[in-house]
Amino acid sequence: MTLVSSKQILLDAYHNHYAVGAFNCNNMEIVQGIIAAAAQERAPVIIQASQGALKYAGLEYIVALIRTAAAEYPEVPLVMHLDHGTDFAQVLACMEAGFTSVMIDASKLPMAENIDLTRKIVEIAHPKGISVEAEIGKIGGTEDQVSVSEKEAAYTDPQEAVEFVRATGCDSLAVAVGTAHGQYVGPVKLNYDLLEQIHQQVEIPIVLHGSSGVPAEMLREAITRGVSKVNIDTDLRAAFVNKIHQVLQENPDEIDPRLVLGPARAALQEVVAEKIRIFGSNDKI
Ligand code: G3H
Ligand code: 13P
Ligand code: ZN
Repeated sequence: MTLVSSKQILLDAYHNHYAVGAFNCNNMEIVQGIIAAAAQERAPVIIQASQGALKYAGLEYIVALIRTAAAEYPEVPLVMHLDHGTDFAQVLACMEAGFTSVMIDASKLPMAENIDLTRKIVEIAHPKGISVEAEIGKIGGTEDQVSVSEKEAAYTDPQEAVEFVRATGCDSLAVAVGTAHGQYVGPVKLNYDLLEQIHQQVEIPIVLHGSSGVPAEMLREAITRGVSKVNIDTDLRAAFVNKIHQVLQENPDEIDPRLVLGPARAALQEVVAEKIRIFGSNDKI
């Protein structure tokens, strides 16, 4: 199998009540860890790169790494996805470079502008067979200094979601229902009723961002209420870098990067495999 669009794998997840893991990458070891876990678990998978990842590694390196992963594991349905694209020109550049799926995140703009920009991207992406994820509501980060009432005000409104999906033709929708990017300080609270309402009304796959640190049973519950794509970054960063700390603590004189990054890659692979089993996307290929 070559690279596929998100739509191709998310519709199966949507209809069969599991979710596909979307894991952020920044370098070769992370790409290798993710694809090895997907192959081990026989799972479709999305490898995604943020604007920060593209800046760090370079667009062409990211494309080449994910293409290499696809070629090495032809049995794994693999998506090359842009995470939180906010810049029209950059989203276009990713599509030109070979991404099979893009997220246009115009959620910070007023609704009418979010619709306009998302629709423009959809009009360009769809004829190329590229799927589009969009966002309404504001997911934000755990570091954002906002009160509970401000957070709830930023939640996705189901009626707006219906209008947004109808007006833009996007393929999947990222929603704000209580998760936040980064490490949680207190307990995670998800508004399941809101999620259920959005799911019943929009009738396209829902994406849960900020899913690191969300307990497994909460993720499973969210998946039964329409979440078909689960984004994980922070938990991978922690697994990778904590293992590097551990190796260097045990071997302070180690200077061979392979002996430091190899165990980090294996630790990340283990976390990805565990997430895949929680999402129920294992044994699907
Ligand atoms: O949603 C954000 C992702 O975790 C990417 O983070 O922009 O630091 O690469 P980043
Ligand atoms: P976490 O870093 O909280 O897992 O969020 C990842 C994400 O939503 C990427 O878009
Ligand atoms: Zn996100």
